[in-house]
Amino acid sequence: MTTVLGIETSCDETAAAIVVDGRDVLANVVSSQIDLHARYGGVVPEIAGRAHESLLTPVVAEAMVEAGVTDHDIDLIAATHGPGLIGSLLIGVSAAKALSLGWNVPFIGINHHEAHLYAALIEEPELEFPLVVMLVSGGHTMLIEFQDHGRYRLLGATLDDAAGEAFDKVARYLGLGYPGGPAIDQLSQQGNPQAIKFTPPMRNDGLNFSFSGLKTAVVNYVRQHPDVETADVAASFQAAVVDVLTHKARRAAQEIGATGICLAGGVAANSELREKTLDICVEEGIQGFLPSRAMCTDNAAMVAATAWWRMRSEGPSPLDLGADPNLRLPFIDS
Ligand code: KG4
Ligand code: ZN
Repeated sequence: MTTVLGIETSCDETAAAIVVDGRDVLANVVSSQIDLHARYGGVVPEIAGRAHESLLTPVVAEAMVEAGVTDHDIDLIAATHGPGLIGSLLIGVSAAKALSLGWNVPFIGINHHEAHLYAALIEEPELEFPLVVMLVSGGHTMLIEFQDHGRYRLLGATLDDAAGEAFDKVARYLGLGYPGGPAIDQLSQQGNPQAIKFTPPMRNDGLNFSFSGLKTAVVNYVRQHPDVETADVAASFQAAVVDVLTHKARRAAQEIGATGICLAGGVAANSELREKTLDICVEEGIQGFLPSRAMCTDNAAMVAATAWWRMRSEGPSPLDLGADPNLRLPFIDS
């Protein structure tokens, strides 16, 4: 039995979790900084770094108390070391290394994207490969073939804005506040998704995405139709994003003969995306796996779970491992 303390501080969530053997989540504490950043309409890196510094110790302590463990029970300490905001990553990585030295247990640095992929396996450890994972967050939109543990192939990605970024920008333009995804999700329930036909660029073109044109289309439409119901704009925009995401996820699954499609990342919390993804999986006769919303957004349980798998294949990281704001997944070619 391996008990892992996971730490996640790559963006604006200060998180710590205790997970046993990659799947048994004893505690998963997330302290969101949304209130600190909301008035600026986005994450302010300087503020995020300072907030992580003051929040991390109490968050780790809370996770340990909730899990009923002491330092003697921890076998491995993991922290996200990239990608993300450098000042934020450094807080988590430095804390993890200090605890590793102080408690005399190994340290392992984890890729934030890989952690999002593993979020699905915490709740559904028996998922069969190959899977298509659609990682849709504030910073990334990727279709990934998850062939096996540690083997990932990039099938498609956004060429400009990430899906979550498009939600955030459109929400800001519509005056719905930050973060935009949940606001648009909620308002869309009262709107008509067929009121306006927005077509994202490249819908029928390969497995890559483009969202910046869609945001411009929304802005132009609202300028030309100032009396339009905001709920109809939100619902029509969301429908267009969900349509292109699910259309390409389905094609990706067909191309690789996937056993299923998993959602990952903050946008995977979107109600319509969740519903439509399950619909296409039923139509294709494959598994559709939607991690719980708490597992989709940034958290440390996914970091601790990934660490358990990585430890088995690669062992611990050296203590001179740095934070890397541009860290990538080591994609294979075929
Ligand atoms: O994965 P995440 O928590 O952070 C990173 O970007 O790594 O994702 C945050 C993104 C934001 O853009 C937010 O607007 C979006 O996820 N998001 C949503 C929803 N909840 C969060 N987008 C659409 N619908 C939602 N319900
Ligand atoms: Zn994330």
